[in-house]
Amino acid sequence: MNHQPRPLAPRSLAIVGATGAVGVEFLHCLAQRNFPVGKLKLLASYRSAGKTLPFRGEALTVEALTEDSFQGVDIALFSAGGETSKKYGPIAVKAGAVVVDNSSAFRMDAGVPLVVPEVNPETISGHAGLIANPNCSTIISMTPLWPIHQQNRIKRIQLATYQASSGAGAAAMEELVESTRAHLDGREYAPKVLPHPYAFNLFSHNSDIDPATGYNGEETKVMREARKIFGDPDLRISATCVRVPVLRAHAVAISFECERPITEHEARAIIAKAPGVKLVDDRARNLFPMPRDASGQDDILVGRIRQDVSDPSGRTIALFAAGDQLLKGAALNAVQIAEHLVKAS
Ligand code: A2P
Repeated sequence: MNHQPRPLAPRSLAIVGATGAVGVEFLHCLAQRNFPVGKLKLLASYRSAGKTLPFRGEALTVEALTEDSFQGVDIALFSAGGETSKKYGPIAVKAGAVVVDNSSAFRMDAGVPLVVPEVNPETISGHAGLIANPNCSTIISMTPLWPIHQQNRIKRIQLATYQASSGAGAAAMEELVESTRAHLDGREYAPKVLPHPYAFNLFSHNSDIDPATGYNGEETKVMREARKIFGDPDLRISATCVRVPVLRAHAVAISFECERPITEHEARAIIAKAPGVKLVDDRARNLFPMPRDASGQDDILVGRIRQDVSDPSGRTIALFAAGDQLLKGAALNAVQIAEHLVKAS
């Protein structure tokens, strides 16, 4: 007999920050993955109330977020900044929703699972209403490393990111386009969203520096979150995070040291089979992961896999990855978490 899987019961969803760069990608992922959406509430600031956004051929009206927005909502996907999450996340949970939060507000809280579905899906069931989506650079860096860590424990990671404008929101993406246009036209452009001129430039990530350590906020997030997601408090990791003039996909150069020797062939074979990852490692054509190719793709592209010659013991591998910051780095990862919630209930 041909067993068809039973269709999953539709869920009532809310998207907080629906008009933002990640918000519209939530809509894209829900539609593309055929998520069982029943009622769908689009929430944003009062400035956007009354706007419409397309979803499965319909124009849905955006409502202003209020304390009463979550009545009857099963799953709320948040991407409207940490302050909005801190205020409205607990209100949504109290109203009976499970919140999948894209901000950093709750990520390091004990009792809040921090989830990459390819890495630690088993932690989802331990939630108490709130589930955190990791930082985009954390997701893009750690997803390809997890299958290696499972076979040959990774003891130490050094990474440097090349981060796109989208991580700072829709206004930063616009700033990149507008400032580039101004530069080419020979016009002055005063940065409004990011702290430094963005066109034909790059700069240290725009989060605050901790004066005690010299690490910025983004680097600290990546380092702490990596340990929590891997469930390995002893993981030694150091990050340098840099903003580059790219629209929506982050890249990262990683060097990682395993417990035992590992060859580049072993590392490549493991990564080739890793879920959520696509190998792009063509030395003959000098073709490796590029943000342009990663944009709009669900998979994280990984290549430049090679023995790190600075470690003569043969335990260290270097690689380069690129992943869509708005998809796997944000909306897609959150929708995958929501899929686990639906399947488990
Ligand atoms: P709005 O478009 O009405 O300002 P991005 O990350 O691209 O900057 O988008 C941020 C998202 O968060 C937008 O949808 C924005 O809505 C929403 N947002 C920002 N502040 C609030 C707030 N105080 N209450 C509700 N939504 C907010």
